[in-house]
Order: sequence, then structure tokens, then C-alpha cells
Amino acid sequence: MPPRFYLTTAIDYTNGAPHLGHAYEKVLADVIARSRRLKGEEVFFLTGVDQHGQKVQQSAEKEGVRPEAFVAAVTAKFVALWKKLGVEYDGWAATTEPRHKQCVQQLLQRLFDEGKLYKAKQGGHYSVRQEQFLTDKERGDDGEFGPEWGEVEYREEENYYFRLAEHRDWLLALIDAQEDLVLPAFRRGELRNAVEKLGGDLCVSRPKSRLSWGIEFPFDPEFVTYVWFDALLNYISFAPGGYDPAARSAEFHRWWPATIVIGKDILIPAHGIYWLIMLHALGFSDHEMPRLLVHGWWNISGAKMSKSLGNVVDPDQLADTYGAETLRYYLMSDISTGKDADFSEQRLVERFNSELANSLGNLLNRSLSMSHRYRDGMLRKGETEGPLRGQASAAVTAYQEQLDGYQVHAALNAVLEFATACNTYVEMTAPWKLAKDPERAATLDHVLYELTESLRIIAILISPVLPNAALAIFAQLNWQGEMSFAAAEWGMLPDGHQLGKPVPVFPRIESATAG
Ligand code: MSP
Repeated sequence: MPPRFYLTTAIDYTNGAPHLGHAYEKVLADVIARSRRLKGEEVFFLTGVDQHGQKVQQSAEKEGVRPEAFVAAVTAKFVALWKKLGVEYDGWAATTEPRHKQCVQQLLQRLFDEGKLYKAKQGGHYSVRQEQFLTDKERGDDGEFGPEWGEVEYREEENYYFRLAEHRDWLLALIDAQEDLVLPAFRRGELRNAVEKLGGDLCVSRPKSRLSWGIEFPFDPEFVTYVWFDALLNYISFAPGGYDPAARSAEFHRWWPATIVIGKDILIPAHGIYWLIMLHALGFSDHEMPRLLVHGWWNISGAKMSKSLGNVVDPDQLADTYGAETLRYYLMSDISTGKDADFSEQRLVERFNSELANSLGNLLNRSLSMSHRYRDGMLRKGETEGPLRGQASAAVTAYQEQLDGYQVHAALNAVLEFATACNTYVEMTAPWKLAKDPERAATLDHVLYELTESLRIIAILISPVLPNAALAIFAQLNWQGEMSFAAAEWGMLPDGHQLGKPVPVFPRIESATAG
């Protein structure tokens, strides 16, 4: 049985249209899913949308539509974008679905029955924007609540609370014991510091009088569930096999624990504290805790993308202008997983032109053209060993190592360096000279074989990021072989193989913004 890999991402808030940050996370997860499949693993990739909460209710009110209609329209935009960008998921987590609602209600009931939820009255400062009560910890150095909290008002309210603080020591011990709980490693330290300061419990209900757009409490219909408590549970409610706390389904446990891809802003407190403690309270053991892969942010000239600053980058438009795979390539090559990056349309064009059009595209085009010109597209596999075999194998190893550490940009670099080495090999061997010397016919055959076999391996390696380009290269090689790491072994193209005709896969982008 192949190993199983359950990969999920944050579910996108359906308060507005998808932006570049959403697209980055989903493409990153899609690339990870595809590369795990190349390894021969069985993958379940879940993503979806977070549809409840106060902001959605407010946006719907503003537009004068019911929240159901509002989220349906926004959800459709996300679904269409993932289709356009080739993000292929196996499960879709939409939190208004009955399957999810049932699971959330069942778990609330269980936590309540076990005394892990309690009702209490709280008065205090409330941030309307963040939908939470604030404590003195949230005050800035000047003693005021900062602008990030928006409008802050005094409120008194009865609510249900989840016993969070009593798990503090358990969580600290878990963070210390499990090195790969949070990746990259520096985030683990940040999380530990935050957990040390953990004091209060978590308010998990909202009175219906001010928020109706949520999942109703099964034992108290006056309340709906706090949106984070609802949303986090998607990772189990939509898991393969479904999560049934009573049955502990075998299928669920064959896939769980998940690897969850999230942005740095939702590690603390949502995933790193609330979610891990929720699972612990539900009876998940330490080795059943998920792994959190935390990526950085795409900024615009160093500043956060935001609707109010008017600097939100629309991935849908970029894909229409430059092509979906061009955008995928840029998003995967111009950022290092875990760190932030600055979006630049000019770099998008430059990277494509220099790395894909000039380097890889040119290699493909010249190799196939020469094979046709000198050998009518017929490959000869001789006995001789050339330098590219060793370099191909080094590239495959480096590529896999980098992907295992989720460093997609570095994995792509390994492929590009190999493509550059292949281009250098063309210059050094000068097939156009070999073709003029009948005594060197065998050498020419050998050079053409090396180049074509290298291209086959390169196609496999780029396939998680550029699935269509990889298929196009296979088609031009007239090769129907396997797209897998196992098939990235040297020498699969047989003697006498007839190649297809070259067609540009990466035509240069001629654009006003290109430098
Ligand atoms: N709905 C919550 C997540 C619930 S998970 C149970 C949420 N939604 S979000 O739409 O605001 O963000 C979705 C994901 O996109 C998050 O992982 C977030 O970090 C990521 N990004 C949002 N803006 C981003 C950038 N500018 N750059 C990269 N990723 C960013 O949070």
C-alpha cells in the first residue's frame, strides 16, 4: 500500500474576491500534492471556503442580499479561480454544508457534556472588526487599543467558553517534543512564546441577537458558533472517511494527521493554540497532532495588500494576461516558503522570459530541431556515457530534497541549473559541426540522445508547477511514458524512438512592463 498524505490549506474567507495571497497558498498546496503523487504517495488534498461570521453577515447586509446568496457568489469566484489556475483538489470544504454543520454541533455537544464548555458572563472591551473581547494584553504601549482592532466598545454578554488555559502546559511540552509540529523551525519559537503567555479561555459563542450567520448551538438555540471554532473543524469534518467521534472511523485514521498549509497571520493564536488544544480536548493523542506548514506573505512594495490601500493584486486578471502557468511559475519561484516576498509584475515577465522562454524553451526547441534536421527525429541510443546523465541524477536528487523541505523555489532552481548545463553542453559539443563530419556520426547520435533524455526528465520535474507544459514537452517528445519520480531514471527513451515536432511551449512575453 502506498503511503498516504492528507494535505489541507486554510479555508478562504468569503468576505470578498480572491486575491494573490489566496492564490499563492492554493498553488503551493497543489504543487506539494502533485509532487507527493510523483513520489508514488496517495494524496488527499482538501481546500475550501470559510463562509460564516460577522464580516460576511455585514457585507451581505451592505449589498442588501441574504448571506446565503452572498457567500454563494463569492464561493463561485474561488471555485472558478482554482479551475483556471489548475488547482486540483480532492475535497471541497464549504462550511455551510450540512456535513460540516452536523460535525460541529456534535462536537460542541460532546465538549459541553464533558464539561469542557461552560457559560459565563463577561463585560469588557470588544473589537467589532476582530469579533473578540480584548484584554489588557492587547493594549499598546500608550495604553490604547491599536488601529488593528478597529472600533472598540464596552460590552457585557453571556457566552459559552472553551477551557483553553488548562491545556497550556500540555501544549508547551508538545511544542518542545515535536520538532516538525510547525515548519519552518523559527515559527515554533514564536508559537512557544505566545503559549507561555496564554491566560484565559476562549469564547466560542455569539448571541444570535448580534450574529445570526453561523452554526447554531445544539443545546442553546440563542447562540451561534464563533467563526474560528467552526472553521477550524473543517479539517476533520471534510477529512476522507469523515470524522465521527463516536465511531473513530478506520478510514479517517488511515489519513489523519493532516499537513495544514497556512499563512503566518493565522498561526497564532488560531492554528497553533486554538486548533491544537481543540484536538487535544477532543481526545487526539500527541502523535495525532497535525503538522503546520506556515508560509509568508506577498506584499506590495513592502506593504500589506489590503482593500483599503487599494493595492490588492487580482490573480484572475494576471492569469488572463500572462497565462495560468506563468502565474504558477512566478508564485512558486519568486518566494522562499516561510518568508515574505514583494510582488512585481515586471519580475513575473522577466523570470518567465529568461528562465522558461530563453533557457528551457530554447533547449527544447533546438534539441528537437537538430534531431529532425540531422536524424529525421529518430533517436539512437548508444553505449556511451555523457556528462548529462550524472547531472540529471544530481538534479533529481536536489529537486526531491528541496521539495521534501517544501522549498519549491529551490527545487525549481535545481531544474533550471540543469537546463543551463544542457544548453552549455549544446554549445560545447556543437552538434552542427558534428553533423558535417561523417566519422563523428555516433557522437552526434549520442549528444542528441543525451539532450532528449534530459528534456524528458526535466518535464517530469517541472510537472508539479507546470503540469500543462510538462505534458506539452512529453507530447513533443512523442512520449507516453510515466510522469513519476521513478521514471526520472536515465535511459527510458528507447533506441529508434521517433520524436515529435518542436512547437514553442514558452513563447516570450513581449510586454510594456518587461525590463
Ligand atoms: N478564513 C480564515 C482561515 C480559516 S482556516 C480554518 C482566513 N481566511 S483568509 O481568506 O483571510 O486567508 C486565507 C489564507 O490566505 C490564510 O492562510 C492567509 O494567511 C493567506 N493569505 C492572506 N493574505 C495573504 C498574502 N498577502 N500573502 C500570502 N498569503 C496570505 O484567514
